[in-house]
Amino acid sequence: MSLLVKGGRVVTAADDYVADVYIADTTVTTIGASLDIPADKVVDATGCYVLPGGVDPHTHLAFDLAGTSTADDYESGTIAAAFGGTTTVVNFAQQQRGEHLRAAIDRGLASAAGKAVIDYGQHIVLTQLDEDSLSQLDELVAEGVTSIKMFLAYPGELMVDDATLFQVMERAGELGAMCCVHAENGPVIDVLVRRALKAGRTNPSWHGRTRPELAEAEATHRAIAVAEMANAPVYFVHLSCTEALAEVTAARDRGRPVFAETCPHYLFLDASVYDDESFDTAKYVLTPPLRDARHHAALWRGLRTDDLQVVSTDHCPFCLNGQKTLGEGDFSRIPNGGPGVEHRLQLLYAGVVAGRLPLQRMVEVFATAPARLFGLYPRKGTLAVGSDADLVIFDPNATTTISAATHHMAVDYSLYEGWQLDGAVRTVVSAGVPVVENGLFVGKPGSGRFLRREAGSPQ
Ligand code: URP
Ligand code: ZN
Ligand code: ZN
Repeated sequence: MSLLVKGGRVVTAADDYVADVYIADTTVTTIGASLDIPADKVVDATGCYVLPGGVDPHTHLAFDLAGTSTADDYESGTIAAAFGGTTTVVNFAQQQRGEHLRAAIDRGLASAAGKAVIDYGQHIVLTQLDEDSLSQLDELVAEGVTSIKMFLAYPGELMVDDATLFQVMERAGELGAMCCVHAENGPVIDVLVRRALKAGRTNPSWHGRTRPELAEAEATHRAIAVAEMANAPVYFVHLSCTEALAEVTAARDRGRPVFAETCPHYLFLDASVYDDESFDTAKYVLTPPLRDARHHAALWRGLRTDDLQVVSTDHCPFCLNGQKTLGEGDFSRIPNGGPGVEHRLQLLYAGVVAGRLPLQRMVEVFATAPARLFGLYPRKGTLAVGSDADLVIFDPNATTTISAATHHMAVDYSLYEGWQLDGAVRTVVSAGVPVVENGLFVGKPGSGRFLRREAGSPQ
């Protein structure tokens, strides 16, 4: 199939110009002014931005946590992603205790098969270092699973100790793989949580009150030091606060290969939600918790100055009714996570409209930088001859209203209910084929491809 996208304003991290984009099969083959090439389908993008499809490197689709599984599987989750202009997700495949790393990846591949509507990669989540774990890592990296996540939180469940962190980072550094770290000091948080529960403080507000910024900053500092001793790069997931950002900035200023993402909820929402002591606040039980509004300006600044490289969603949706309610009477049993995969572009564009982020930098944090950091660039993350034909036609003159009643995520609430935002995603193309057209899903479950990612992330 061939497709010609005519007259749009092509915006990449490097360029901004009006052009036509010609796609043959799955690939962009020509970009130029007023192209006169016959195509099976022509899409008029006049007045719209034509952006590279988004790369969301932090999603939890079909992910088991706290005795339940995320509300979105690969089908509903990738459909929702596509509606938000994201054409690639890198999802987490989590090692169960005692499980071979390969088995976790195979489970992830099985849950994507026949379901994903856009392309996807997988990170391995390592929860335990066994005798042959490091050689298992070698195999996975050779097969395109080139990133490994470890938790410094959730002791007894997911947390790894510093010895594991060091050894895995060392091997990852040798292999050119990226270690992703959930940086919170789990043991300290556990004491604070147990103390709160013992004092009868059981409602979800206490989730926010028992995970201090310094717990994140300390773990960030420690992981940076361990990565330096291991001579490896490190990538911090869901960075939420000024104190942790200062650690990343200081390391980068020293020339260390330290990278970090933040998420829309840390840029737009704040800890005042925890003032509501009702169970409704379980919607905001995600980790790290929402922080005071004082952090917003620092995070936006970090994005502008490249101290933060990526905005991911940490999409980890659990329904308020039936899933979050597992923690009624004990906030520590509420499955942690919030929905977001559908609205990353819309929210980032709100930052552009507010003058907090230049448009091209928005494209960079939305698509280009995550593609680079996770071994997908230039196949993904840009619009160039030879790149995969993944693109978004975004109409800056339309508006979008966010609501759980109309979103495509299989979750019964939105973190941004009723928000009216400038701009709307009109058409989304994945590997040369429209998946969303004028607000309708036109893709096919199972058409998404597993991405074997390159090793050797930027230093
Ligand atoms: O609350 C969150 N973020 N849940 C998902 C697991 C994680 O920590 O990324
Ligand atoms: Zn995490
Ligand atoms: Zn996460």
